[in-house]
Amino acid sequence: MKFTRRQIIVSGAGLAAGAGLNPLLAQAPLKLTTIPSSGQQVPAIGIGCRNYRGSLNSDDMGVFTDTFATFHRLGGTVIDTSPNYGNSEEIIGHIMAELGIRNQLWVATKVDREDRASGITRMERSFELLGGDNFELMQVHNLRGTAIQLETMAAWKEQGRFRYIGVTTSSEQQYQAMIDVMSRQTLDFIQVDYSLGNRSAAERLLPMALEKGIAVLVNLPFGRGRLFNAVGDRPLPDWAADIEATSWAQVFLKYIMSHPTGAIPIPGTTKPHHAEDNMAAARGRLPDANLRREMENFIDPLLG
Ligand SMILES: NC(=O)c1ccc[n+]([C@@H]2O[C@H](COP(=O)([O-])OP(=O)(O)OC[C@H]3O[C@@H](n4cnc5c(N)ncnc54)[C@H](OP(=O)(O)O)[C@@H]3O)[C@@H](O)[C@H]2O)c1
Repeated sequence: MKFTRRQIIVSGAGLAAGAGLNPLLAQAPLKLTTIPSSGQQVPAIGIGCRNYRGSLNSDDMGVFTDTFATFHRLGGTVIDTSPNYGNSEEIIGHIMAELGIRNQLWVATKVDREDRASGITRMERSFELLGGDNFELMQVHNLRGTAIQLETMAAWKEQGRFRYIGVTTSSEQQYQAMIDVMSRQTLDFIQVDYSLGNRSAAERLLPMALEKGIAVLVNLPFGRGRLFNAVGDRPLPDWAADIEATSWAQVFLKYIMSHPTGAIPIPGTTKPHHAEDNMAAARGRLPDANLRREMENFIDPLLG
């Protein structure tokens, strides 16, 4: 199914009206994070595109496009993808062109090859698929071929082909390797797994990022489904009102955003109503250090 741009905008507007979001909160400013290496400010939340896969002619494309239109309408710009996620880059490139929003977005992708030549081929293909004049962040995916890929990436950054370079992981087993790379290389970004239920990165990586002025993207902010499964159908605790959170997703995202690094969660979603829910986390109050501890004490027994 192919949606026209008007159909997408109309359905997005209907969603906002139907969602019953607190109108006062909807007018609160979107939180921004400052990237230490440049001073550029970006929205404090993004979107992860790991599950944008499939045929360009499938019915899913309409829902994917609607999700992106919703994210963009609510002020979202930071998107994260990878050539490693099936044909996500192709789909995202197509959606951005269809909506005419490519140059308004802050695009991050990755390179996942061991050797120099195939890394170059892979990155050139990302440029083709994602298009646009501005390309913000290239990351070494899961530290694959780190040293060799960073050489090419640093040279291309110098040439202005992208603005920032970084490395990613989503496994504690790679944290020592992350520490080594962060010590030896000049990085603008790291991307790590960090959530209310998975806090090792806050002990081992985030203090170093803060000290060295490296910006942080956060993958697996919900631990995929783990945090939602842990809370089940429990009502929100009273303290959720103190941070103006109206859903569990907002609680989990606000926890990440309140880390002193200004960590930017990139929740993966392919659903317009989830994009709307997640973007609401970037408005209103964030937890202070005391409430962050209370949130940790709340979740730990539920995770067992
Ligand atoms: N090593 C790496 O570099 C690495 C590894 C993993 C992930 N990543 C990046 O990080 C992104 C996020 O990770 P992830 O997608 O694997 O995991 P995640 O963000 O922790 O969880 C995604 C899951 O949460 C659901 N969800 C999203 N918003 C929701 C909401 N408001 N309420 C209820 N459920 C919600 C999604 O379902 P719906 O689609 O139905 O909304 C999806 O099943 C990825 O897309 C990717 O860009 C990078």
